[in-house]
Formats: sequence, C-alpha cells, structure tokens
Amino acid sequence: MTILVRRTKGGLPANKIRAAGEAISKGRIVVFPTETVYGIGGDALDEDAVRSIFRIKGRPPDNPVIVHIARISDVQPLVSEVPETARILMEAFWPGPLTLVMKKSEAVPKAVTGGLGNVSVRMPANSVALSLIKAAGTPVAAPSANLSGRPSITTFSEAVAELDGRVDFIIDGGKCRIGVESTVVDMTRKIPLLLRPGGLPVEEIERVIGSIDIHPAASGRGKFRGRAPSPGMKYRHYSPVHSSVVLFEKEQTSGPSIAEARDRLLSSGFTVAMLVTDEARLRKGVVVRLGSSKEPERIAKSLFSAMRQLDRSRVDFILAEGIDEKGIGLAVMNRLRRASGGNGPEGLEKLIALKRGAQR
Ligand code: TXA
Ligand code: MG
Repeated sequence: MTILVRRTKGGLPANKIRAAGEAISKGRIVVFPTETVYGIGGDALDEDAVRSIFRIKGRPPDNPVIVHIARISDVQPLVSEVPETARILMEAFWPGPLTLVMKKSEAVPKAVTGGLGNVSVRMPANSVALSLIKAAGTPVAAPSANLSGRPSITTFSEAVAELDGRVDFIIDGGKCRIGVESTVVDMTRKIPLLLRPGGLPVEEIERVIGSIDIHPAASGRGKFRGRAPSPGMKYRHYSPVHSSVVLFEKEQTSGPSIAEARDRLLSSGFTVAMLVTDEARLRKGVVVRLGSSKEPERIAKSLFSAMRQLDRSRVDFILAEGIDEKGIGLAVMNRLRRASGGNGPEGLEKLIALKRGAQR
C-alpha cells in the first residue's frame, strides 16, 4: 500500500515527512518533490533499495542514478576527491538544479553508478526534499519518478497516477518550480563537460568557472552511438505513450509549417494538438501555449505536464514549436528533440504511414 502525504492548509505535516524519511532508512521507497521534477528515492547506501527503484521504473541497470544530499559536507563520504572547480560550483549553486559527477568512494554501491567509477551528486533546492533527506539520515538515490522512457513527473497527481501502489510513500509538493531536470556536469575532467542541459543554464556556470565543454549529445539531436559518458544519453526518453511528437526546429527550412502539418493530419483523420509559444499565430485546432518565447522558464515549467496531459487525451500527434537555445531553452530543446525521437516536418508523410500501420 502507498501512503499519500497530502498538503493541508498549514503545508505538509512535518511528522509525516519524518515518517517517510525513516522509512527510507529502512529500505523503503518514497516519491518526493524537488525544485526540478519529482524523484523516486531510496537509501543510496542500500543496494537492495536502489535495485527496487530500478525495478519499479523499469530502468536499464547500466543507467546510474543521482545521489541527493541535504548539506554540502555530505558530499565528502560519497566521493574520493572534490575538485576545486566542483567546490566552487557547489558554493555558488547548491542547493539548486545542478548535478556534479565526481570520482566515487568505496561507500557508494555499484547499483547506484551502474558500475561506473563516478557518482553524481546534487543538493535539491526544495524544503520538503531537504527535510526528507535529513530525516532519512542517509544520502538518497533518486532518478526522476516517471517510468523509464516517459516524460518526467512535475505534479503530485501525475505521481499518484503513475506510481500509486508501487511505492511506499508519495509526498505532495505541488507543481515543481522549474519543471525540467537538473543540469549534469562531469567534473572529473580538466575542463568540466556538460552531459545534460537542465534547470541551471550553462551560461550561469560559465560566469563562475569560465567556459566548459559541451557534449555533442547534450543538444538532444541525433541518435547517440558508441560508449556514452552518461548512459542516459543513449536511451529513448521523455516520450508520450500514445502521441507522436513532431518537432519544428526554429531554423527549419524544408517540409510543411505547423499550420500546414495540422491541416494535412486533420484531413487524414488524425487528432492533433499544437504545443507552441504565446507568439505563434495559430488559431484552428487544439493550441496549447506554454508561454512567451521571451520567458523560456515558463515554457520549461509546463512542458512535461502538457505532454502528459495531451498523451492522456490520446491525441495522435503533438506538433511542437522549437525555441531559442539560450538559457534554459537548451534544456527545453534537448527534451523536445528526445521526445520527438528525431521526428521533424520533413518526415511527416513517413510518420503518417507508420501511424496508420500501427492503428490498423
Ligand atoms: O533534477 C534531477 O536531476 C532529477 C531530480 C529527481 O533530482 N533527477 C533525475 O534523475 O533527472 P534521472 O535518473 O532521471 O537522470 C539522471 C541523469 C541520467 O541521464 C544519467 O545517465 C546521468 O544523469 N547520470 C547519473 N549518474 C551519472 C554518472 N555517475 N555519470 C554520468 N552520468 C550520470
Ligand atoms: Mg529521468
């Protein structure tokens, strides 16, 4: 049975958060809010607990999970060394949406790192998450709470719909403030390497430690080949179950426009929704506006929820408008590119044929 910890007028009951934390220390699994997305957490030092997280999510065992801590000093026992630049970033951005990859210590079990020699650590900027980790008295391993491959979870009701009955606790933290996952940076190299763009813009990191390297897969473009420095890069990700996402990049030069694609799909009997900025000039059909292109933070905040909502309504196609890759826009584009699996307007006819085949 899953215990649902709901918010009351006075906020979340502290004794229930404490109970959930104590449950983690006994090997139980708790879904909890962070400022980025909801996480599904267990004791990072308990191999069995970590394995049950993988089982519940259906996550490939070689894809490592992030270890969450409540104080900067808690990083020490998890790593064999803290590089100077990592120390500077922790002081500048923790608690916050930044995950740092460092050399692991003996204390970290294999299940956490997927067998890699590095561990990723972050301190979330969310009071519920921090109280929970403190109450657990142990670092908390927590991937995003979605089932493997699906869009991340950013509201309590989505968490309940996906995980009720599969975990021990689900804690209501309302809607996540940021809405996309943390930025992941590999600190084990001379020049730090961005593995996943996220809630903390690269520009902000570079303002503090100078320019960093950007992994070519960080844009979310193309299929990843070869050995991934971050195994999450090579797996299908953020994809709705029913709906096919088609991404219209800003610099698109060939294929139909969003309006033309909509008309083509509607006349072929498909259901269509458009996931666009406030500025998009579209009237006909289901138009979901995520925010102004000048405020990519607002777009990031509702992106996953909107995809989940459209998927629930079983719309056949989601036509998504690309935005600038500035600031958090890079994280938004990474998620959209991966959700679309590379489907753009040029491939629309092929996609229609595929979808017809699947519906038959
Ligand atoms: O915002 C977030 O980061 C959320 C919340 C819950 O904290 N967590 C999250 O975890 O997004 P997850 O497991 O969905 O994504 C973690 C990403 C994966 O792409 C994984 O491959 C990468 O980080 N990663 C984790 N540990 C790593 C390591 N030791 N080396 C390289 N990449 C790692
Ligand atoms: Mg995830």
